[in-house]
Amino acid sequence: MQKFGTVRQFPIGLSHDARMYSCERLNKILADTQILYALYKKHHWLMRGPTFYQLHLLLDKHAGEQLELVDMIAERVQTLGGVAVGDPRHVAEITSIPRPPDGAEEVPAMLSRLLEAHETILIESHDAAARTMEMGDDGTNDLLVSDVIRTGELEAWFLAEHLVDTPLVHA
Ligand SMILES: [Fe+2]
Repeated sequence: MQKFGTVRQFPIGLSHDARMYSCERLNKILADTQILYALYKKHHWLMRGPTFYQLHLLLDKHAGEQLELVDMIAERVQTLGGVAVGDPRHVAEITSIPRPPDGAEEVPAMLSRLLEAHETILIESHDAAARTMEMGDDGTNDLLVSDVIRTGELEAWFLAEHLVDTPLVHA
């Protein structure tokens, strides 16, 4: 059995230390991304209010995009010789995104919760992208910048636009 937190030797031109470091950073982002995916599904189901249909569809689209990222991040960990975090109970031990209430929150609270989860992942990803590039792991840097960060930023924009004040009439 290969233990979690170790890397196998792969001839891909990256040092053991660089691969270990990238896998550790990626597994944290992978855990948080799996939680974000689950949060999107929860809020897709629990959505309510006058914009129910639009948000119901939007959150499901974002869930699908996050699920693709989950697969890409996990397979990057494996490419580096590591072990990707997969079991939801293991994910729960690693993530730093707070657990939401089991019940249904107000709509702005749901959207804010998703935005905060995005920001947690974005802050981590910017730092991890810079550090992994310093260590020579350009592939991980590219995944974080081109996929995780760009997708996260775009989704955060679409969420945030639902939280601005939109007065019906300006006299
Ligand atoms: Fe659905």
